[in-house]
Amino acid sequence: MTRDKISNAKEFLSALISKGLLIEPATFESIKEMFQNKANIACLVAESICNDSSDEINSNTIKEKIKFFEDQEKTKQKVTIKKTIKKTRKDYDAQVKIRKIKENTAKKNTTLFCDYFLSRYEKIKKILVRHLDLTNLVSINNLNSSKRNGDISIIAIVKDKIEAKTGTILLDVEDKTGAVRVFVKEADLCQNIINDEVIGIQGNHFSGGIIAKKIIFPEIPFPQEVNKIEEPLKAVFISDVHLGSKEYLKLVEEKFLKWINKDSQTQDVKYLFISGDNVDGVGIYPSQKEDLEINDIYEQYAEFERFIEKIPEEIEIMICPGNHDAVMQFEPQFALDKVYVPNLVNRSNVHLVKNPEYIYLHNNDDSNGLKVLMYHGYSFTSIIDVIPELRKHGLSHPEYVMTEVLRKRHVAPLYGASIVAPATEDYLVMDEIPDIFQTGDLHSHCLKNYKGTTLISSSTFQGQTSFMDRVGHIANPGKVSMVDLHTRECFIKNFM
Ligand SMILES: [Fe+2]
Repeated sequence: MTRDKISNAKEFLSALISKGLLIEPATFESIKEMFQNKANIACLVAESICNDSSDEINSNTIKEKIKFFEDQEKTKQKVTIKKTIKKTRKDYDAQVKIRKIKENTAKKNTTLFCDYFLSRYEKIKKILVRHLDLTNLVSINNLNSSKRNGDISIIAIVKDKIEAKTGTILLDVEDKTGAVRVFVKEADLCQNIINDEVIGIQGNHFSGGIIAKKIIFPEIPFPQEVNKIEEPLKAVFISDVHLGSKEYLKLVEEKFLKWINKDSQTQDVKYLFISGDNVDGVGIYPSQKEDLEINDIYEQYAEFERFIEKIPEEIEIMICPGNHDAVMQFEPQFALDKVYVPNLVNRSNVHLVKNPEYIYLHNNDDSNGLKVLMYHGYSFTSIIDVIPELRKHGLSHPEYVMTEVLRKRHVAPLYGASIVAPATEDYLVMDEIPDIFQTGDLHSHCLKNYKGTTLISSSTFQGQTSFMDRVGHIANPGKVSMVDLHTRECFIKNFM
């Protein structure tokens, strides 16, 4: 039997007449009124009456039907469809803090170099002194008064490393009180040690020095948990844009800008980190002029500004200098100067920072957030060169040198690997453990994890140059790294 469909009082009345059904006027009026207030119940009741086989319709029957359909309605599972709008970066405030360092106002003289290395020693000693293997810790001038042939430990800076014909490694080390020779019979213990780094040594003291049993690096510990931020936001990492070079990859720039502006993958990107060599520079190496598309340094930076201005304003951009930038070369390098980037200085979403620099994201009363350490990486080529294990992997695997400097807790431990300014404090010590460690310079790319720290070597927007051929760098351009700061998932986007 087909059910009569009734949707209003008029249709109900027509159905009653056509079926010859009699209904009390008061009952009809109550159902008619129900069509105004509870139309869905009224329809069901009216259809039920008209399809009922009974000829008699009394008020009790009607009341029962109304109650039945009302109860049925109540027990129906409520399904609420809430239209949610996917939040994007525009919906979140940026939270960026930049580590402040003391201005180096001391008058430059050679004694400041002593202060600089003393500062390095003290900062790394603070890390090492907690190490459980460094038992019976003494200063070098107290070695003779300690129990002869007894186990001792020292914390010292490496002055020289010599390999004896017997295979024993001789380390000449010193602290604030004196110097001593350390004999390391197991070469494996110290194969990655380089001059000027601070280490812990545990061993036996005798009249001729110390026979090492253990070498302790300041290292980074395994984290208790991986730090994240509450908000579903991402950060993108690029470096070595090298605007002004003939080898500048315009196509990579175009693809990158399209991606960061319009791609669904980047709508929650809130932060962009650019780790130096923003322009190719002028006079950085002999005959560079032949490799330049733009010869004027101001014009190079004007192009760089145009590039930055095409990035959405709601993205916070951190820019540090590199060795190709028009900034003094000693590290920490100053931030880019307004003389070169007058428009960027006035943009509230652009942060011109030093090299290296610690940036704190979403560090507030409720959360520690994430620490990002930006370092251009100029020291890395020299460090790779003096450590055979790193040389074996070459310049195309920056994760090894990045891991090594994390173990040494210093971005440029080898004196001369980068230019050091005489200063009272060594700001190149990694006294804080970064959650993300970003570098550039090698023009290679890596996105790895070491003990909870994300290691990013940020590729380049420049193709292979003749200068890179000469210094042994092999370009791996067009790769962009992205980190989900909420989950710490990592992504690589390849624009080549
Ligand atoms: Fe570069």
